[in-house]
Amino acid sequence: MDAPFVFGKIASAENFTDRNDETLRLVQNFKSSVNTIIISPRRWGKSSLVEHASRLASRNNREIRFCMVDLNNVRTEEHFYEYYATAVMRSSFTRAKELLENTTRLLGRFMPSVTFSPGHGTTFSLSMDWKEVMRTPDDILDLPQKIGNERKKKIVVCIDEFQNISAFTDPLGFQKKLRSHWQRHNMVSYCLYGSKRHMMIDVFASPSMPFYKFGDIIFLEKIAAGDWIPYIRRRFSATGKRIGAEDARLITELTDCHPYYVQQLARQAWLRTGTECSRDVIRRAFDDLVLQMSMLFHTLTDSLSNTQVNFLHAMLSGEEKFSAQDTAIKFGLGTPGNVTKIKNALVSREVIDMAGGRPCFLDPVYRAWLARYYFRIAE
Ligand SMILES: Nc1ncnc2c1ncn2[C@@H]1O[C@H](COP(=O)(O)OP(=O)(O)O)[C@@H](O)[C@H]1O
Ligand SMILES: [Mg+2]
Repeated sequence: MDAPFVFGKIASAENFTDRNDETLRLVQNFKSSVNTIIISPRRWGKSSLVEHASRLASRNNREIRFCMVDLNNVRTEEHFYEYYATAVMRSSFTRAKELLENTTRLLGRFMPSVTFSPGHGTTFSLSMDWKEVMRTPDDILDLPQKIGNERKKKIVVCIDEFQNISAFTDPLGFQKKLRSHWQRHNMVSYCLYGSKRHMMIDVFASPSMPFYKFGDIIFLEKIAAGDWIPYIRRRFSATGKRIGAEDARLITELTDCHPYYVQQLARQAWLRTGTECSRDVIRRAFDDLVLQMSMLFHTLTDSLSNTQVNFLHAMLSGEEKFSAQDTAIKFGLGTPGNVTKIKNALVSREVIDMAGGRPCFLDPVYRAWLARYYFRIAE
């Protein structure tokens, strides 16, 4: 029997839990062409949520079409246009003949050539005169609007890992270009999501930025223990095993309700369970998880500066007033100005998060590893 629980993949169907309010809000935005921005740290469930909501919105609804664009490997503006054009064409035309004809018709200016690689799920790739694309990318940026208009269908363009545009040579110029085109698109709405909260907030919530007031901003939270516990128990019992409510709660406590880790730990615990899971099994599964990550965490810690590591030490020791003189001396944090710099650097490295004004660890397993094996603090 396949083990239940998924991690590192999109959570869907019986593995997608809760998020009812966010799903509803997103489906409504999709149906009424409201732009949406979703912000949360990595692995909290943005991609899963968008996928889930897009599936619901297009069920029994032929008026709406989705185009999924994942900027995961995209680091330059040129690459963006190439990738974007390909994704829009592929989601709009399914048959090879249609794809070919429409590529020539809609993107002819760029002298496109199309390649199909056959096999499981034919892949289609485009090459174009990229100098010309960079000079005037308008036809590519307006592609969804044009297709939507021709087919009289609403199009929702979903762009994942949107924070990657900050690596482009001129991110601000790029944002201005996008915005000036997109604001004229009445057939298309955009759903933009990504991690790096500070960067995303900067782009979407600063009055001086082109994307200010672009759409509905959702700060996605973790999934609450109250939703995880019945889910974990349900998945155990659907596969012929049992776990008590308190033990399911322990899984959420050790992983701090972090969606990816809840699933990973639940799976590990399930694999070690004969028929009845126990606290012991869960604790051992968690210990193993922490140790498995050891290499990675060592590398991460080595890449931090001494004062950054000292700051993490202070956090784990329960300090809260990091700029107070005695704390700064005790842990070697330097001046209050320095403490601000340390925090910013750790936020930017996605080690900590400052939501709510207090620093907290983004990775609960890293936190446990640091406490146990690095600083050797009894928990
Ligand atoms: N709604 C959900 N229900 C159950 N598990 C989820 C849910 N959302 C996310 N997860 C878990 O978290 C992992 C990361 O989710 P993902 O959608 O890839 O996050 P993100 O796009 O924010 O990085 C998934 O592989 C899954 O294990
Ligand atoms: Mg994702």
